Order: sequence, then structure tokens, then C-alpha cells
Amino acid sequence: MLRVEKINVSYGEFQVLHEVSIEVKSGETAIVVGPNGAGKTTLLRVISGLLKPTSGAIYFDGHRIDDKEPHEIVELGIALVPEGGRLFPYLTVYDNLKIGSFAKRARGGFRRTLEEIFELFPILKERRNQLAGSLSGGERQMLAIARSLMSQPKLIMLDEPSLGLAPRVVSRVFEFIGKIRSQGYSILMVEQNARKALELADHAYLLESGKLEFHGGREDFLRNPYIKKAYLGI
Ligand SMILES: Nc1ncnc2c1ncn2[C@@H]1O[C@H](COP(=O)(O)OP(=O)(O)O)[C@@H](O)[C@H]1O
Ligand SMILES: [Mg+2]
Repeated sequence: MLRVEKINVSYGEFQVLHEVSIEVKSGETAIVVGPNGAGKTTLLRVISGLLKPTSGAIYFDGHRIDDKEPHEIVELGIALVPEGGRLFPYLTVYDNLKIGSFAKRARGGFRRTLEEIFELFPILKERRNQLAGSLSGGERQMLAIARSLMSQPKLIMLDEPSLGLAPRVVSRVFEFIGKIRSQGYSILMVEQNARKALELADHAYLLESGKLEFHGGREDFLRNPYIKKAYLGI
């Protein structure tokens, strides 16, 4: 479904990603684990079209997308949940969800998608008239994820959904992501919390200083002595 082939990405003179290749198959969850500054957010920005690679290629659903604009990439069915969610705190839950459905691909199905989301996340239905800023941290992350679903994507990209949340809340957020996964969406998630993210992963990549150092299935990852020591604390 998504194939990133040997991309190089720089901010000015500073090269951040080096020959990075990843793949997300339809219906699968892939995770990219790596420390702060490894280039995880940069990778998601490049796939979203917010940043152009200096070389390499990105394919989605049979289209080459590395030269496309962000709105074209949304229309093809890729949604990004940015770090921290980037909600509109002074708008209601409902209005935040409505903003998520601006894509042409989503307009016709607004009511139906909203009903599906309220079924998946009943708390958002209860709070639909509350300001987004008044939600708890976990609920805000849930709303950010729900908003991305409003564009009726095929692939959802999540940038560190657990960042800044208390451990108990982190478990809940990963539960919602698990629910979405079981709906058949393809997911690409970048996380520092390797242990939690691995529970959901079919495939995992380790990114360090802009280079892919390891990739494999969940079991390969859990067995790798270096990953165990550096990222799983076991
Ligand atoms: N807009 C930018 N301009 C210059 N350097 C940046 C910019 N954004 C990120 N960087 C640098 O690129 C590297 C990777 O950053 P980032 O992709 O945000 O990593 P991660 O998400 O894994 O923490 C870091 O060294 C960071 O300082
Ligand atoms: Mg980041």
C-alpha cells in the first residue's frame, strides 16, 4: 500500500534521513521506533507531502506521491495525526471533527462517518458540544485520531500518540489505536514508547540518526538483543 524507497531528506545543509526505505502493507500496522531527534517526524512529514525528499521515491496505492501536494495526498487517502494532535481548543468536539472531513473524498459520507466514529468512541458523542480544550489529555488524543478518520483515509499515520500522557492514559490511547486497527485501517505509527507500540505492530523499524538500523516482524524485534537492551529495558 505504502512504499518509501531510499529517501534522502535534508533541512538546508543538514541531512536528516539517509536512504530510508519502509513499507506498510494493506491492513497492517507498521511502527517506527527511535530516540528523540532520529527523524521520525520528518519521515511522516515527507510522506504527507509537507517536505520533499532530495532523492528516492514514495508510492501509495499505485501512485507516485513524493512530488504531490499535501492536499492531493490527503485525497488519495493518507491522514496524519500530528504530534500533540493540533486540535482547535476553542472549537467544540463536533466542529473539530467537521474540519477533519474537508477532503473531497469525505464530503459525501460526513454523517455516516460521524456516526461510525461516535459508535467507536462513545465519549466523543457525549462530549460533542464541549470545547476540545476542555477534554482530558487522553480524550484530546482520541479526538485527534477521530478527526483524522473523518477524511476517510486508507492509511493513518500517528506521530507519537503517547507523548506527554500519564502511563495509565497511554494504555487507553493504545487501546483506541487497537480498535482502529481492528477496523481494517492500515497504520504507520512512530513512537519512542517501543514496548507499547510493539504490542500493536505487525512490522517494526528502528530509526537512529536518520538511518534504518533494523527491521522485522514483531517477534524479530522482541528477540533482538540490542533492541531489548536499548529500547525495551529487558
Ligand atoms: N524545521 C527544521 N529545521 C532544521 N532542522 C530540523 C527541523 N525539524 C527537525 N530538525 C532536525 O532534524 C532531526 C530530526 O528531527 P525529527 O524528525 O523531529 O526527529 P524525531 O521526530 O525522531 O524526534 C533533528 O536533529 C532535528 O533537530
Ligand atoms: Mg518527532
